[in-house]
Amino acid sequence: MRTYLITGGAGFIGSNYIHYMFGKYGDEIRIINVDKLTYAGNLENLKDIENRENYTFIRADICDKEAIREIFAQNDIDRVVHFAAESHVDRSIRNPEVFVQTNVLGTAVMLNAAREAWEKEDGTYPGDKKFLHVSTDEVYGSLPEGEGYFYETTPYSPHSPYSSSKAGSDMLVKAYMDTYHFPANITNCSNNYGPYQFPEKLIPLIINNALQGKKLPVYGDGKNVRDWLYVEDHAKAIDMVQEKGRLFETYNVGGHNEKQNIEIVEIILDTLREMLPDDDPRKAHVSRDLITYVEDRKGHDRRYAIAPDKIKAEIGWEPETMFKEGIKKTIRWFFENEEWMKNVTSGDYQKYYDAMYKV
Ligand code: NAD
Ligand code: DAU
Repeated sequence: MRTYLITGGAGFIGSNYIHYMFGKYGDEIRIINVDKLTYAGNLENLKDIENRENYTFIRADICDKEAIREIFAQNDIDRVVHFAAESHVDRSIRNPEVFVQTNVLGTAVMLNAAREAWEKEDGTYPGDKKFLHVSTDEVYGSLPEGEGYFYETTPYSPHSPYSSSKAGSDMLVKAYMDTYHFPANITNCSNNYGPYQFPEKLIPLIINNALQGKKLPVYGDGKNVRDWLYVEDHAKAIDMVQEKGRLFETYNVGGHNEKQNIEIVEIILDTLREMLPDDDPRKAHVSRDLITYVEDRKGHDRRYAIAPDKIKAEIGWEPETMFKEGIKKTIRWFFENEEWMKNVTSGDYQKYYDAMYKV
């Protein structure tokens, strides 16, 4: 039975990936989820699978060398899928150090522990051992409006402390591949959305605020462009890269689904109005009047757009969920999981939200 070590599995994409993997492989695999449970880690995301015999949760910090080494010593790990990171750009602008700590140092600890556990005396690695580093399109910087795409060959040009720390972690993975022939892949993905996304990120924040009749904060002129991908499509891409990808390669993951932020907000409002029953009192306040332009994010990247040509040509992956359908699925999930949102917003998030938006 193949054993996966997932870092950051209690977060948004990690928990969706764990659901996807159990849905696909059932009892054929074993998953060990290592997560520090920062403000972004939420074990409620995994409630339905937590009692599976082939699932183990370990609360640990990826920067804790001894704890990570011990996990490799106690378990015959075949695959690592490394999601754990500080992931929110606005937080990185307020407090960069923790991003360097977790994203750079934590990745170094993970690489080192895996190398120690896997490398044979002759410097080679057993065939099935693979490390996948989950990274972001933000490492490539910002594109001009309406022109060009990010390819795997695009030079790195990160601007925020978040994207710089992710770029640093990517460089470490590349260094391990070049120096030790360490069996790894990197995926650089565009903006994800879907169930379990923490409501500090644009889409869940807008859904939650609109339903409560709160203002919808749009940074700057609202015309920054992001390339949105439904999270399950990302989970599938990660699995396909580990199964079918060439080792040592980077694969860009994204959906040719570029939208301005203001378009996203308007689509959410229209979809909420379409989905809410006429007698639901929330329908009355879900309107464009809630849109509020606020001060721009410092160093705000103008446009991201992924060219997913390589992953399509080599592996046969392409996004399956069109935005119109994905946003409905996401909103439906938030309707059906009001308790999840209540629990999240009554915790630390609220304090952060107050500091960030000065409400
Ligand atoms: P998230 O913030 O929702 O989750 C991060 C998880 O990592 C949380 O469960 C948190 O508790 C855990 N974690 C943080 N620091 C840790 C530490 N020191 N030790 C152990 N666990 C720790 O993030 P996400 O949106 O799910 O992103 C996951 C990964 O995917 C990140 O590496 C991110 O850079 C990358 N990514 C995200 C997106 C996106 O749109 N969200 C897009 C491309 C790539
Ligand atoms: O591109 C991939 C990246 O996408 C990931 O690497 C990051 O982990 C993830 O957080 C995301 O980064 P963004 O900064 O693009 O996502 P965010 O949801 O924070 O913002 C999306 C856009 O919306 C961005 O242009 C800023 C804007 N925005 C965001 C918030 C939270 C607003 O206008 N208002 C808001 O309140």
